Order: sequence, then C-alpha cells, then structure tokens
Amino acid sequence: MVTFDKSAAAFPGRDRHVFLLACSASLLPAVALERMVAAAHDQAESGGLVFGSYDETLDRFHRTVATLLGTDAADVSFQRNTTEGLSLIAGGYPFRPGDEVISYVHEYPANHYPWRNLARRGVRLVELPNVPYSGDPDDSGDSGNSGGSGADGRPYAFSLDDLEQRITGRTRIVALSSAQFASGFAVSVESLAEICRAHGIDLVLDGAQSLGAVPLRPQEQGIAAVAAAGWKWLLGPIGSGLMYTSPEFREKLEHVAVGAETMRQGLDYLDHSWAPHRSAKRFEYATSSPALVAALEASIAGIHLRYGVEAIRAEILRLQDLLIGALDPALFIVPQRAEVNRSGILSVVPRRGTPEDVVQGLLGRGFVTSSRGGYVRIAPHFFINDEEIARLAGAMNELG
Ligand SMILES: Cc1ncc(COP(=O)(O)O)c(C=O)c1O
Repeated sequence: MVTFDKSAAAFPGRDRHVFLLACSASLLPAVALERMVAAAHDQAESGGLVFGSYDETLDRFHRTVATLLGTDAADVSFQRNTTEGLSLIAGGYPFRPGDEVISYVHEYPANHYPWRNLARRGVRLVELPNVPYSGDPDDSGDSGNSGGSGADGRPYAFSLDDLEQRITGRTRIVALSSAQFASGFAVSVESLAEICRAHGIDLVLDGAQSLGAVPLRPQEQGIAAVAAAGWKWLLGPIGSGLMYTSPEFREKLEHVAVGAETMRQGLDYLDHSWAPHRSAKRFEYATSSPALVAALEASIAGIHLRYGVEAIRAEILRLQDLLIGALDPALFIVPQRAEVNRSGILSVVPRRGTPEDVVQGLLGRGFVTSSRGGYVRIAPHFFINDEEIARLAGAMNELG
C-alpha cells in the first residue's frame, strides 16, 4: 500500500484552494519549485558557468523519463511543449502527396494543426467522428454545450471500428491523444497499437493528458512516438515537456529545427560538420532551460518514480469514485466508462444550468475546476484528499 504525501510541505499551494485542474496546469510540487529556484540562483550568480552542468542536467532528465516510460534514455528528448514535439514529427515525416494521417475530430489543437499544416504537402487529415455518450436517455446532448461540437453533441469518444474502416493503403500515421482533453476518454492503447501494427502504420500519441496519471510503456506497446506537456499530470513547470521516439521511427524523420545541439560536435561551434545525433537528443536542437529541465526531472524522479504511476492512477480513480458516489444523479450526469477508458479527467454534465455557472460557483467556494466542451472537468491529482472530495460533492450538489 502506497502512502502518499499530500501535505502542504510537498505541495505549497494545496491549502489555498481545492485544486482540481491538473488537466490544465498542476500545482507545482516543492521538489520542482526548489530545483527551479536553485537553477535561477545558479544563473544569477554564475551566468554562463551554469553550462558546466548543462549536459548532466539533460542526461539525468533523459534517464529519469526513460525509467518512467520503460525505454532507453537515447529515445527521450526534452521539449518545450506537445506542439513542438508533434511539429518536429509532422514536418520531418517522409510523406508523399496523397498520404493520409488519421486523427479525431475533437483533438486538442496541439494534435490537430501540425497535421492539418501538411495539406500544402498534399497530405490529407482524416478525422474520426465523435461517438456521443448514449448512456443517459434524459441527456439531449446539447444542454449547456459550449464546446462547439455541433450536432454530434459533446466531444465524448472515438471508436476503433471507425478507425479500422478509415485505414487505407495511404494511411501513414495515426495521431491520437491517449486521453482526450475535454471528455477524459482514454483509448485502449494496447488495442490501438495492435491495429496500427497490423497495418504497418506509425502510431503517434499526444500524451499530455495521460503521462503521469496513466501508465504508458511505448517501447513495449510498439508506439512510434509520444509527445507531452510536462506541466499537467507530470507536475513540472509550464514550458517543460518531453518526447519519446522509437529508433526506427526516428530514422525516418528528416530534420526540421536544426541547431548546435542537433550535432555531435557540441561546443565546437566552428565545426560545421553535418553530424547529427542519432539519439533523440537531435530534437532538442538548441539551448533548453536548465531550470525547466531540472524541475520536471525532479517531479518525475521524486514523485512518479517514487510512488509508481499505477498507484497514482489508482488513487486518482479512487478519488473520482468517491465523488461519483456522492454526486446527486438527479443533478449531474456522470458518463459511465469501462475501466480502461478512464483517465485523470472526470467530465460531468449538469442537468440544469451551464457548466460555466457550476465552475464559477465552485470557484467562489474555493474549488478550482474548468469547463470544456459542455462538461465540468474535474481533474484531481493524487494530492487531493477524501475530505476535500466530500466537500466538493456537497458544493456541486448545492450548485446543481
Ligand atoms: C491533449 C492535450 N495535448 C496538448 C496540450 C498542451 O499543448 P502544448 O503542450 O502544445 O501547449 C493539452 C493542454 O490542455 C492537451 O489537453
């Protein structure tokens, strides 16, 4: 049994409000804050001398992320955000005119525009349709819907049958979020990877809403690449992120952003040999922020590796279950999902009023949530406690 440290010493902001917004930007834990502050002090005091430890900071980051994902350190790169990683892939992939990428119609922009941008190269973006929630006969699918999802109702899920039907001889990449930002739907990565493997298609995941909350083993699962923001479930600072690329997939990619750190000669800036790293280091291409790298590494090493992501996931789902059990079903629809399709985000629909009203009402009572796509999104990380969930349920039932 894992005992989680949920204290204000570990999460300095936790007692200011009840923070249920890990799907946006999480509270920064003390381990990361301390590392960031220390790195800022180092630069204040020593300027460019900090580059003496730069390589070691990045190497440690690669090793820690590799342990988290069960991969080799050489397959990990630090990225500034998800979009950066996915753009390096979309821009570098050897597409030919007429090739196709399959994604989902309600993806977060980070996993939409980099593929859409390929239209000028003659690459077609094929979008899986939304499969609306059909479990509640009283839900018309359009009450309080602010997400622009139109006649399909709220963004909810996609189906693997729809995916299989859309695969053609021109499909090169399937690009999906492992957990959807609005509805919280998590795809079965095993099943998805199996389909892609059977058709010889590269599977690229946006892991921003799953890494840190849902275990992912890309090498074992045969995933070509995963890109993610680090400031959500991974508990890192805003502006930090990561990418995994398999060696075979990396070999296919042409260079998009190329700079001093793409090349093996490192500090020898007058040597302009074309000698790119074969490791994922090439995707770091130029100077990264040691403060951000070190802080994200500190969170992953000090929290995710300490407790294990499986245990973190179990705790998050336990907290969600407490809430679900205490919410009045006459006031809120909580879509039921198979266990494998659950993520850290619990999206619920108020039967009366708008999600925005509920979110505002909750904020006034000290609970930080958000509304997206016609849902109230509740995203508790493991540091939320049972008493806070009980109070949240009370406040929601009052507002509903
Ligand atoms: C699924 C998903 N991908 C990516 C992001 C963030 O994108 P980026 O890291 O490019 O800012 C978010 C943020 O909400 C998200 O939900």
